[in-house]
Order: sequence, then structure tokens, then C-alpha cells
Amino acid sequence: MGGRRRRRLPAEPVELDIERLSHEGRGIAQHDKRTAFIQGALPGERVTAQIKRQRRQQEDGQAIAIENPSADRVTPPCPHYGICGGCSLQHMDTEAQVRHKAETLADLLSHVGKVEPAEWLAPLTGPTEGYRRRARLGVKYVPRKGDRVLVGFRERFSPFIADIDSCHVLDERVSRLLPALAALIRDLSIPDRIAQIEVAAGDEDVGLVFRNLRALSPADRNALIDFAATHRLLAFEQPGNEQTVAPLGHAQMRLHYALPAFDLKLAFAPTDFTQINASINRKMVSQAIDLLNISEGDRVLDLFCGLGNFTLPAARHAAEVIGVEGAESLVERGRENAAANGIDNARFAAADLTQMTPTADWLGGPVDRVLLDPPRSGALEVLPGIAALGPERIVYVSCGPATLARDAGQLVHEHGYRLEKAGVMDMFPHTGHAEAMALFVKD
Ligand SMILES: C[S@@+](CC[C@H](N)C(=O)[O-])C[C@H]1O[C@@H](n2cnc3c(N)ncnc32)[C@H](O)[C@@H]1O
Repeated sequence: MGGRRRRRLPAEPVELDIERLSHEGRGIAQHDKRTAFIQGALPGERVTAQIKRQRRQQEDGQAIAIENPSADRVTPPCPHYGICGGCSLQHMDTEAQVRHKAETLADLLSHVGKVEPAEWLAPLTGPTEGYRRRARLGVKYVPRKGDRVLVGFRERFSPFIADIDSCHVLDERVSRLLPALAALIRDLSIPDRIAQIEVAAGDEDVGLVFRNLRALSPADRNALIDFAATHRLLAFEQPGNEQTVAPLGHAQMRLHYALPAFDLKLAFAPTDFTQINASINRKMVSQAIDLLNISEGDRVLDLFCGLGNFTLPAARHAAEVIGVEGAESLVERGRENAAANGIDNARFAAADLTQMTPTADWLGGPVDRVLLDPPRSGALEVLPGIAALGPERIVYVSCGPATLARDAGQLVHEHGYRLEKAGVMDMFPHTGHAEAMALFVKD
């Protein structure tokens, strides 16, 4: 036992008045001198909630009954909602979800960054179901329950895998296969040694990476190959780290997605980073390139460039684009994609951008435009380097609005940029995550 005393949770459900929504979409109420964060509750509602976790000043709970439903409340479209922890906002109208994400961005920019854009960008919206092209599906063998295998996401407030037979947000080509995947794994010789299945779907092909903790037998291998052939999938095994991913029964290591507005077809390996929502990604890339307002003679820097998702579209307009990325494998993919698309004005470099200086040798001269798309932790360490280069325009794409707000404050208050535009993109409908974009212009 650790030194921390366990608090006794209220055994009985409690009645709460929900005041507002937290940034990630939980209902906030006051209870017992603590702030309660209630999953499944909306502002203005009086709810009955079960408290699941308690800390000194905060408690987390789940709404189990609603007395006076909010006008934003809808019947969750997925039958597994509430048990499966994959989504957290299906009880809220999708337009209200987007409104909430836009309000959260405004709130963060104002309170964390102390900035306000001169103009708000209209939210970018797209499909709210079947949009998810990347996912890590948990796998659990449950011999007690009649030799069953569960394939899906974790339950809410629990380490167990939810018992689901479809997923409302997952690419339909994979969602409909969940029961068949569970049966496939149950019949392998090592049903308890498949840790997860990584989903990587392209426009035409769907890849499934089976993370096998023990070697597949020849019969297992054949079963996976047959399954892939029957369902027109690309199957991969992954016996160790990412470098061990290998195709099963085919030689193809690449999937593809297109960006038709730029006449591009991008290749990726099943474990490469790609944006989850293909439809929003197309709109997002187009908006970013519009905001960069690239002239023919411009040199553009694309930081955290991945496999070239923004680099190659920018190269269609610029004199030269430099894509910089930490993962060598993605840099390699960027070069591969430039060559495959006949692009010779994009260069790629591998670098840890937290160490970026304005004299980095990969820069090769001044830059006119910078695009950055960092991980959720943001780009604080990179900002002085960017500011020293003095680009006229900076487009910041973010999957963490809180760090975007923090970094926006720095660019505006420390580095002399103006926040010209900002807005959200509905990249992850029904979840508490938001994607955002901001345009900074040099004063
Ligand atoms: C949100 S992804 C964006 C990828 C790409 N822009 C796209 O749209 O597909 C963030 C990228 O930052 C890279 N990254 C994370 N930390 C980094 C660091 N310290 N230096 C360089 N790249 C980093 C990751 O490998 C990942 O490819």
C-alpha cells in the first residue's frame, strides 16, 4: 500500500446542478466543498451522478439520470456509448460540440494567452461518424466468459476493454469487422498474446497491425492471411518495436491518402503518424495554405512536418519548402512522397526541434513563411528560433488548444506578432479533443 489514504466514495448517487462545461466537455458542479466533473452532464441540467473518484479539491463522476435535459442533449447515436470510453460527447448535439470547442479556444486564448484574434475563422466541420482512420484497439482474451475475446476501447472509469460489436466513430470498413476480429483472435494459438490491433486506414486500403507478444505459428499466420484476403485488408504483424512491423502474406508496406486540391497522393507506413480524419485533413491543409498566402518566390519552413502533409502542398506554391521533423522514418517518407509526386523544391531534415536555433544548418537561408504543427505539448522552445527568422506569416496548427493559447501569448507579447485569425476544426467529433489553427502576422 502507498502512503496516500484512500478516500471513501459516496456509496449513494448525489444530486448536482451543472453550472458549465469543462474544456474537455464534462459538466461542472459544486459538491461537498469540491468541484465535481461529471461525465455525461450538460450546463443547466440537474443530474443524479455516481462519484467515481475523489481528490482533495476535485471529484469525478458519471451522470446516471437527468432531471431537466438541456436543449443541446441528444440520444447518443452509438449503443455502446456510456460504457465504452472511446467517446465522451455523444450526448451533445454535434453543432453544440463544435460551438463548445470554439468557445473553449476563445476562453483559452483570452485567459492563458491574453490575446484575441482580429477575426474568427468559421469552424471546419465534416463527417461526425465513421471518420476515425487511426485507432489502437485493445484486445483481451477472457477465458472465463466462454472463451471470448474482446476487441475495442477501454471502458470508462475502468481498465477493462468494453464489449462492443461496432464503433460509431471508427472507419466503417473496420467497425463492421469488430466481431470477426474477435473471433479470429480467439481461434489463434495465442489468443492471450495479442496485445492490440493498430488500425491505419488509407483512401483505398485498410491496414491492421497485430501486436503479437509471442511468435505466430504457421497456422496463425495462415488464419491472419486468409482473414485479410477475405476482407480485402492489409495485415501486418508486430512482434517487437515499430521497426519489426512486417506484412503478412503480401509485400506492400504502404497505404495512401490523396490531397486532390494539390494533386498529391501521399504514401504512409501503417505505424506512421497521419491525421485521424481524412475529410477534415483535406480542408485543414487547404485552409493552412490559403492563410500562408505563399508567393512564387517564397521560402517556406514546415516544422513538425511528419510525412509532408503540409510540406508538399506548400511546395506547389513556393520557391522552396523545408520540412523538419524528429522521426527519421517520417523524414524518409517525406522524401519518398516528394519524389513520387514529382516535387523537387521540397527538402526534408531530421532534427529535434526543441533544440532549434536560427542558425540551424538545415535552414539554408531566410524564410518568408512558417507553418508549425507540433504535438499536444506545443512549441514553446521553438518560438524564439522562429521569431529570430522573422517570417512575415506564421500558421500554427494545434491539437492542444491550451498550448496554442500559451504559445500565442508568447508570439504576440514577446515576439511582435499580431494574432490575425483563429478557429477550430472538428477533427475528433464526439470526443473532448479539439484541433485549432491560428494565423500570426508580423507587425
Ligand atoms: C501533430 S504531428 C504533425 C505531423 C504532420 N504535420 C502532419 O500533418 O501529418 C506532430 C509531429 O511532430 C513530431 N515531433 C514531436 N516532437 C518533436 C521534436 N521535439 N522535434 C521534431 N519533431 C517532433 C512528431 O514525430 C510528429 O510527426
